[in-house]
Amino acid sequence: MDVILIGPPGAGKGTQARWLVEALRAPQISTGDMLRAARKAGTELGRKADTFMNAGKLVPDEVVVGLVAERLHAPDCAGGFLLDGFPRTIPQAQALDAELARHGRKVQSVVAIEVPDEAIVRRLSGRRTCGTCNRIWHLEFDPPPSPATCSCGGALVHRDDDKEATIRNRLKVYHDQTSPLAEYYERQGVLRRVAGDGKPEEVRGRIFKELGLR
Ligand code: AP5
Ligand code: MG
Repeated sequence: MDVILIGPPGAGKGTQARWLVEALRAPQISTGDMLRAARKAGTELGRKADTFMNAGKLVPDEVVVGLVAERLHAPDCAGGFLLDGFPRTIPQAQALDAELARHGRKVQSVVAIEVPDEAIVRRLSGRRTCGTCNRIWHLEFDPPPSPATCSCGGALVHRDDDKEATIRNRLKVYHDQTSPLAEYYERQGVLRRVAGDGKPEEVRGRIFKELGLR
């Protein structure tokens, strides 16, 4: 099964992806994680993406589309994939449709996690991510063993783009460029809206129910 997770920054896409990849037995393709890895490795792609990401803006479509198209054709995606953070614009969604069609596939399920803007700043200010295993924590809502250390022993980091001013930009970009995707996928009859409030486990229950997963 192929699943696409959409939702505002901090909606819980990465948090839910951890459970979904296990249930789907499919890889998570997170464009945010891929771009951060490229940035850390100092590649040309990483350097290109850096300024956009720090400003809370979207990396240009052609850069991200190329990255995902290549990843989708890796052997581990043959049985399905979980997209997290892509597509994020209508042109990206159209490019994905075209790419899948070339291989006789089409978008099956799009889960939109809905969280009001007021909750986002608090979620992202308290987020800590493990630099070793990528596990996502929250200092208050899902506390790590210690504020600086993951359960795997790795050091926890506060993402550069999780500063309040950048969060506000990311939210604006989301409303302007990404939220129209809900209507795009609604027209295709593949959209499932899920409330993102409550504990992460409760959101997981709603998503699994929508997708018929156990
Ligand atoms: P990306 O990494 O995709 O960031 P994002 O979409 O802004 O989303 P986040 O990763 O911040 O949030 P999330 O929904 O994964 O929430 P999480 O589970 O961590 O993209 C970063 C940047 O890369 C973009 O700004 C752009 O520049 C670039 N980029 C990426 N993809 C692109 C694309 N396709 N095109 C162009 N540019 C692209 O949860 C957040 C926090 O809340 C955590 O602390 C978590 O513990 C907590 N939490 C989760 N669920 C709950 C809950 N139910 N209750 C309370 N707390 C919760
Ligand atoms: Mg994420």
